Amino acid sequence: MNDKLIEKIEQLKQEHNAVILAHNYQTADIQDLADFTGDSLGLSIKAAETDADVIVFCGVLFMAETAAILSPEKTVLLPDKYAGCPMADMITAEQLLDLKQKHPDALVVCYVNSTARVKAQSDYCCTSANAVEIVDSLPKESPVIFVPDQNLGRFVIERTGRDLILWPGYCHVHVIITEEDIKAAKEKFPDAVVLAHPECTDPVKAVSDQLLSTGQMLRYAANSRAKRFIIATETGIIHTLKKQNPGAEFIPATERAVCPNMKRITLEKVLWSLQDLQYKVTVPKDVRIKAKKALDMMVEILPVK
Ligand code: 13P
Ligand code: SF4
Repeated sequence: MNDKLIEKIEQLKQEHNAVILAHNYQTADIQDLADFTGDSLGLSIKAAETDADVIVFCGVLFMAETAAILSPEKTVLLPDKYAGCPMADMITAEQLLDLKQKHPDALVVCYVNSTARVKAQSDYCCTSANAVEIVDSLPKESPVIFVPDQNLGRFVIERTGRDLILWPGYCHVHVIITEEDIKAAKEKFPDAVVLAHPECTDPVKAVSDQLLSTGQMLRYAANSRAKRFIIATETGIIHTLKKQNPGAEFIPATERAVCPNMKRITLEKVLWSLQDLQYKVTVPKDVRIKAKKALDMMVEILPVK
């Protein structure tokens, strides 16, 4: 069944000169199907570089919007039009404008998990892989607004020593992981290294060994001598971790850490997406031009870590 679907998808991909990009939280079959898998930063770079005419984005809306902003001449497709990110929707452009009015001297850094309109109101964009470097590069005397993820924001405060103006956004998938989950897993596997995403809460971060984006987790595991890891992020990444490191064991901090929006994308929907060229993701030109400035800083100026 899957083989037939995959064969049809491959055929349509050739016909449309399409490329399939998938986030590390996608299901195993989507990650295996994709031409490129990665974290938000890696996928943004791929979206900007590819010479394909069509990008099928297996992820959530803000990722497809980012691809549309960086490659406006390409057709960007999101196979499920309802695959959104609740954290990205926790701040609107109007709310950000209000915040900017309260802090007129502040620079604005927005996490890539934000809408195109919020990016358009920001000076810099960042991902979890480069948030620390972006904030560190800003003039020391300048106040900085950081939206929307308060947990990533607190991680940046700790690493940079800067006093950021935070927004109370959060990722419901990462805040579901508790300190007790990590402690219980560590008790069972005392030799395991704990890799946690900076979107996790402070108590989880405090009992973890490394705080990494999903792409950084993959690189860390590949270069580590450790044979056992506890993974405190969305469980989809465990598929690729296992595939790339067959000699190591990867234990999810909790099986509850599943992003329902990421899991909306299925092989069938990828096929329909290529058959009907749906759902096209576009960003109005005025928003796109402003949002691109914030994204360019992230994609061009800072190297991938
Ligand atoms: P990264 O893959 O950039 O670490 O992002 C995590 C995330 O929550 C994406 O929605
Ligand atoms: Fe949004 Fe969290 Fe899902 Fe990522 S894992 S798409 S941040 S809800």
